[in-house]
Amino acid sequence: MIRLDKYLADCGLGTRSEVKKYIKAKQITVNSEIITKPDVKVDENNDTICFKGKEVTYEKYVYYLFHKPSGCVTAKQDNLHKTVMDYFPEEIRNKDIAPVGRLDLDTEGLLLFTNDGPLTHHLLSPTHHIPKTYYAVLDKEVPETAIEEFQKGVDIGDDKLTLPAELIILSDKEAELTIHEGRFHQIKRMFEAVGCTVTYLKRLSMGSLELGDLPKGEYRKLTEEEVQMLKESK
Ligand code: URA
Repeated sequence: MIRLDKYLADCGLGTRSEVKKYIKAKQITVNSEIITKPDVKVDENNDTICFKGKEVTYEKYVYYLFHKPSGCVTAKQDNLHKTVMDYFPEEIRNKDIAPVGRLDLDTEGLLLFTNDGPLTHHLLSPTHHIPKTYYAVLDKEVPETAIEEFQKGVDIGDDKLTLPAELIILSDKEAELTIHEGRFHQIKRMFEAVGCTVTYLKRLSMGSLELGDLPKGEYRKLTEEEVQMLKESK
């Protein structure tokens, strides 16, 4: 059982104060009865709750895949740049979603958003080594030797070498790199370690999740299968 105003806010209907106004304005019914008190307890699994006659359904957790364009920061607020949150409408932002991990200002590609704290923790935990694959364009030819070096681990100036990573050279100046950790600027620093500068970077996948052909700047809900696979990822 949860408070009616919390239920409505969790559904993304509005902020707590907004939904209180709807309740006062007699726009909310619980099992067809008009309720005017925000602290009334409702059963989120069995009660039928409507706003202006339309059922409002409860989702405790939501999951969105976003194609981040370059030029926006992975933060909730920023004084200088657009943020990734600006791409989501208010009713989704109201669900308290946050990005799982970060992409640099100039990096594009797959970014997962959720309000599922336990899953976020699981995916970001350094012990889980969730694979992340990036497509990179470099300023010069990627040396063949980088394949073995990345497999062994490279010194990028941290205490430890990087974990084994898989490099596929696509053409002279293009490559795909899969890493199993998430250090600050990791891909850029790894390529610097073999003498190349990244000029374009895009994340293609994270664990079982793939960016696919989702257009830049757009988001979509994950399917139930995708959520399940992420939860089971080791
Ligand atoms: N590695 C980087 O260098 N930048 C990113 O945005 C992600 C991984």
